[in-house]
Amino acid sequence: MADHSDLHSEHGARRGEHPGRARNPIMKVHDLAWLEFEKPDLARAERFAHAFGFSTTLRTDSELHLRGTDAGAPCVLIRKGPGSRFLGPTFLAGATADLHRLAGRTGRQVRPLAESLGGSGIELTDPTGLRVSVVADVRQLDPLPQQAPHDFNSGHRLARSNAIQRPPREPARVQRVGHVVLQSTRYSETLNWYLEHFGLIVSDFQYYEGQRERGPTMSFVRCDRGATPADHHTLAMALGPADRYLHSAYQVADLDALAAGGRHLGDEGYHHSWGVGRHVEGSQIFDYWRDPDGFLVEHFSDGDMFDDTVETGWSPFTASGLAQWGPAVTKDFLGLKAGRGTFGEVRSLIEALRGNNEFDLERLRGLITVTRT
Ligand SMILES: [Fe+2]
Repeated sequence: MADHSDLHSEHGARRGEHPGRARNPIMKVHDLAWLEFEKPDLARAERFAHAFGFSTTLRTDSELHLRGTDAGAPCVLIRKGPGSRFLGPTFLAGATADLHRLAGRTGRQVRPLAESLGGSGIELTDPTGLRVSVVADVRQLDPLPQQAPHDFNSGHRLARSNAIQRPPREPARVQRVGHVVLQSTRYSETLNWYLEHFGLIVSDFQYYEGQRERGPTMSFVRCDRGATPADHHTLAMALGPADRYLHSAYQVADLDALAAGGRHLGDEGYHHSWGVGRHVEGSQIFDYWRDPDGFLVEHFSDGDMFDDTVETGWSPFTASGLAQWGPAVTKDFLGLKAGRGTFGEVRSLIEALRGNNEFDLERLRGLITVTRT
């Protein structure tokens, strides 16, 4: 196994700590297929989606399907409904046989998917009550023209001569969905559920400073594709005072596509949350935006790819450790900005502290320390 400390300076697990993978998972998912949301206004959602860099594959009175330029299934499905909420992630299985194994172990049924998607799927419920689907053999849309990556003259290494650099100010073109980040009051139980059902591997654990012996509170989790490298994280999970969606991330071609696309979103009047910077865990160049309903979405480029040999890293969870460079992390990104949601936040915090879960007063103190360090 490759030593994680070869890759960056963090240390691995200590004796007796979480191994970062399940010994005998039911199956191994290949990737995220798509994320599903409910929105009250599909026209408004579609306008933002196009400015963010998606293309529409289906639009009816009740449904909006959005895709990136990569071949495959649409990567965001939006259903019209009274509220604005995250309905759940859908993972892609390598084969239909995996769905039947999952069905056998969970007592759920494999069902054909809607005509517009093709293939079949199975619906599960994670320990937080979130609907989690796994699909196989879904319809493969042909690739769309990619946004051409730029040729960079890096130092003295000349990749471009007698040619000028003019990245167009246009929407970044999303290539694919990269990851989704969820928060849970029962973080360990939920994380283990995902590892055991889907064969995921924890790339990095983070713990509250001074509370390592109580176990990690944040994990960046990748798909196990054997010798084929996968995104450093396809799923990330954090302990927190509510069960909720934090953000989802979509790959674009390069830094220019990301920055020019961000300028376009700003020109269109959309709300910038945090960026441009480069993350530590996963190393992506990132830029965070809020959609018209306040949902956080990320453009990213140049992320780390790990195969199944890389062991789990361990490091303290700090706000300053979210980026290697870039502007200081914003209150908006951390969800600390006072606004219409504040009353609800306080109420869910009190409920979480009272409830039978993993979020207690010491964990709250740990979380406050994260935002200050
Ligand atoms: Fe992210």
